[in-house]
Amino acid sequence: PLPEPYRIPLPVPPNLTPTNGTIELTARRAAVEILPGRTTEILGYDGVFPGPTIRARSGEGLRLQLRNDTAIDTVLHLHGGRTPAEHDGYPTDFVTPRAERTYSYPLRQRAAPLWYHDHAMDFTGPNVYAGLAGMAIIGSDEEEALGLPSGDRDVPLVIVDRSFDGDGAFAYPLADPARTRPGVTMRYHGGVLGDCVLVNGAPWPVLEVDAARYRFRILNASNARRFDLRLDHGVRFTQVGTDGGLLERPVARDAIAMAAAERADVVIDFSSVPVGTGVTMTNGLDDGGPGQVMRFQVARKVASDDTRVPDELSLIEELDETAVDVTRDLHFGLGAHGGGHHGGTDWNVNGVTFRDGDLFTAELGTLERWRLSSDVHHPVHAHLVGFQVEAPGGAGLAWKDTIDLRPGGSAQVLVPIEGYAGRYVLHCHNLEHEDMMMMVNFSVV
Ligand code: C2O
Ligand code: CU
Repeated sequence: PLPEPYRIPLPVPPNLTPTNGTIELTARRAAVEILPGRTTEILGYDGVFPGPTIRARSGEGLRLQLRNDTAIDTVLHLHGGRTPAEHDGYPTDFVTPRAERTYSYPLRQRAAPLWYHDHAMDFTGPNVYAGLAGMAIIGSDEEEALGLPSGDRDVPLVIVDRSFDGDGAFAYPLADPARTRPGVTMRYHGGVLGDCVLVNGAPWPVLEVDAARYRFRILNASNARRFDLRLDHGVRFTQVGTDGGLLERPVARDAIAMAAAERADVVIDFSSVPVGTGVTMTNGLDDGGPGQVMRFQVARKVASDDTRVPDELSLIEELDETAVDVTRDLHFGLGAHGGGHHGGTDWNVNGVTFRDGDLFTAELGTLERWRLSSDVHHPVHAHLVGFQVEAPGGAGLAWKDTIDLRPGGSAQVLVPIEGYAGRYVLHCHNLEHEDMMMMVNFSVV
């Protein structure tokens, strides 16, 4: 019973700004209408999916008080946050049903579009699929002084794919619905893909826009789906930022590839689009349902638009490759690579999984080079640290916290070990791979 695309208005999640440096969130079950006339049970922060958009400030500490009103153990992780280990949402650091916990985030980091989501050991896939995810946009004065579109023209777009059963319930193929063991049925070993695309929780929605510039903070919060976003009618994206904040310079792009957990900060200028035109955002990687994303319906002319996209957005200091202290080879693969500790078909990193203790120890204040490689597609994410990479389209440098490795592909990133000592995780952000052991520990000393 999937709806016609581009009919349902795009919802915008409520903003949540701190009071006295504190925000409160309650993870709870809720019944919402996603498909017209049907009810979908979700687990959502404050009962909505996506959760409220947290709006915080770079350099201003934030306390997040989480209450767990669900019947499952949960863990909250601020993805992209530079967070002390005890507040980072380590996968076994559970908030049990009816318990509360306060996470404290120093946010000593650049302005950036972060997100928060459940990270419970072995069950992150089903928990996020059920709705436990939202955006957390970290702003700064420098960024606001640039004159990029703001207010109603700064819109988060949380994109996911989902499948529904005949009654409108999310259909997640847990191998064992009683959750005595993790993972999905064998058919979904590569990751759970849905046939319907939701943006901010609505199927293939439409947003009425003015013929003006808009800023969209796009998050691919899917469990496993990759997108290659495109626009029609000759409209292009101007990418201004990535996972780790603003690029040095804006870059015009025809397509934006986004693996699970990646973010793109883009400006779209509708000023030259005739009123009445629908600009459709599609996914070039698929046909049919997963190939459609949303539409921007240009509804009105505006007298003037005083926003701009400056040629210089930010400065990123280039790390000195010759100063690398340690080089690590990290291979993301299946089964027996590097020893096959578990004998079966677990996904792993260098043959190691979460159960094996630390894969490595890194020293604060040093610079590492990670040479990542993979067998199939794996979007690789590390907690605490950022990756310095070349920006898309040759627009200088960029900071990322998630890198999409292509099948048989590799990537080399520079990783300054900064922040806090403690134990963190490094994992594939295909959530089914993560739940099926493609997650390892590393310690920072
Ligand atoms: Cu977005 Cu370890 O997670
Ligand atoms: Cu993977």
